[in-house]
Amino acid sequence: MSDERTSVLMKELLPEDPVERDKMLDELDILLMRYESALREIRTKFEILNDELSLLGHQNPIASISSRRKTTAGILEKLKRQGFPLSLESIEENLTDVAGIRIICSFMDDIYKVARMLAQQDDIKVLTVKDYIANPKPNGYRSYHMIVEVPVFFSNEKRPMKVEVQIRTIAMDFWANLEHRMRYKKDIKEADEIMEELKECAENIAETDAQMMIIREKIRQIQEQ
Ligand code: GTP
Ligand code: MG
Repeated sequence: MSDERTSVLMKELLPEDPVERDKMLDELDILLMRYESALREIRTKFEILNDELSLLGHQNPIASISSRRKTTAGILEKLKRQGFPLSLESIEENLTDVAGIRIICSFMDDIYKVARMLAQQDDIKVLTVKDYIANPKPNGYRSYHMIVEVPVFFSNEKRPMKVEVQIRTIAMDFWANLEHRMRYKKDIKEADEIMEELKECAENIAETDAQMMIIREKIRQIQEQ
């Protein structure tokens, strides 16, 4: 997003009075720091699960983890687009994806395993689940999404912070990345044929994911003999 657009949005959000403006900018910094802290908490939880499961013989159910915090401009633009008030309270109340973490699993069943293990932790509150693996999007998109709330401890308070968790296989991630990149290429939404081809790719990938689990089981059985 261009700096110019950012500053226009910032002007809309920020009070004109310079003292008030500085105060709000400071508060925004604190809010963003809180979301980053929440991301660290969730990342650590998944890393611990991965370390433990690996020792129990599950061979790194998590292949990689990445996270991102929405930019200030991204936050303001989403609030505006969805018609929510531009304020700090409104960010916390209305946006669930300021903090996002993506967990890439090796196998499809690992997704459900680590999702369940996170959800079972007694400091985690699961607010919503969208299982786009059981119910793929019409374009073929597959992934397991959760909005969770995690308490973060600061100097003199504990705050529940929302984090969007996306869990998918390496193969689903491959598809989602390329689809996302191509979506911004001109007018492909209009091209039914291309949409069909993309969907077909997603289905092939899902089949391969299922086949990989079968191969893994076969190898396990041979090893046990
Ligand atoms: P947003 O307002 O766009 O965040 O969507 P939502 O609130 O309806 O939530 P949903 O769980 O459907 O999507 C959240 C996120 O999942 C998106 O921001 C993307 O990162 C990812 N996602 C969802 N659908 C698709 C898709 O069709 N293709 C790709 N590549 N990513 C998707
Ligand atoms: Mg989003």
